[in-house]
Amino acid sequence: QAAPIKVVITGAAGQIAYSLVYQIASGACFGPDQPVFLHLLDITPMMGVLEGVVMELADCALPLLAGVLPTANPEEAFKDVAAAFLVGAMPRKEGMERKDLLAANVRIFKEQGQALDKVARKDVKVLVVGNPANTNALICSKYAPSIPKENFTAMTRLDQNRAQSQLAAKIGVPVKDVKNVIIWGNHSSTQFPDPSNAVVTIGGAQKPVLAAVNDEEYLKGAFVSTVQKRGAAVIAARKMSSALSAAKAASDHMRDWFLGSGDRWVSMGVVSDGSYGAPADVVFSFPVTTSNGKWKIVEGLTVSDFARQMLDATGKELAEEKEEALAVCKD
Ligand code: NAI
Repeated sequence: QAAPIKVVITGAAGQIAYSLVYQIASGACFGPDQPVFLHLLDITPMMGVLEGVVMELADCALPLLAGVLPTANPEEAFKDVAAAFLVGAMPRKEGMERKDLLAANVRIFKEQGQALDKVARKDVKVLVVGNPANTNALICSKYAPSIPKENFTAMTRLDQNRAQSQLAAKIGVPVKDVKNVIIWGNHSSTQFPDPSNAVVTIGGAQKPVLAAVNDEEYLKGAFVSTVQKRGAAVIAARKMSSALSAAKAASDHMRDWFLGSGDRWVSMGVVSDGSYGAPADVVFSFPVTTSNGKWKIVEGLTVSDFARQMLDATGKELAEEKEEALAVCKD
């Protein structure tokens, strides 16, 4: 069996982490032959709760779980990690402006970038889940200059999974038979879930989703807004935000990055090189393929006028968030 890899989850006493620890420790994320040593970071007041999570992990009696380190110290948590799930962030409280939330969270990701830079493996793969995920990932990368910027990504996989599931239900096929739906831009309400290159397998033959659905009004309207507002719909129903599905998406994202995406495109927030007219040097979600631990943006797709408007709007928001975040970091 392979030597264990160290994997950190931040926000480890929170609700996403409660599902994510199992995804990782059961082998769903890094494969059935890869043991993991889990580093669990949360803030000091949460150490008691975290102890309960550690107890439950022990009680799961998982063969791949080589050890667990609960801690409130980022430098201890990030020491020698090969993969980092940065989930921990301050939740939005009542009356809090978006700007205040951004400021509070950007500071967390600045500090964590510095700690990663100091003690993590130089090939660590970082997935930021905590919101605003794209901009937090950008800041984290900026403060970890000794780690390649390609190693910092933000999660839009939950949006992709939601989009795929909506299309499969609309067409009436199993979710696995739909692929190559794209999420462009920010993990926020300006994101663009784009079905225009998606394909569906029906009766053994592949068909464009556009033809299978054959309802342009739905695809540009209700489909897009359902995916954009799905998080809010889950909160309204569950009185808590998406956690099981967010953890599953985080695991999907990291698994594909480590083990390869095969013949499917996946969406990941990555540092933009300006592809498809996105602003450069923001963390923008693109369609990518992954192999040998590296991602590559899918090239040569046609961008319609409608898509152009959607990409520009989400790109503009990311450029603004970046300026706000950089201003906070200077303080
Ligand atoms: P939660 O509030 O249940 O857990 C967050 C945990 O982070 C808490 O235990 C808290 O103590 C901890 N934390 C706060 N500051 C920390 C720090 N500096 N270091 C380490 N831990 C810290 O929240 P939940 O539901 O687990 O969500 C976590 C984040 O994920 C939120 O920011 C949420 O908006 C985001 N999210 C992102 C999604 C995406 O698709 N990108 C989807 C769903 C949620």
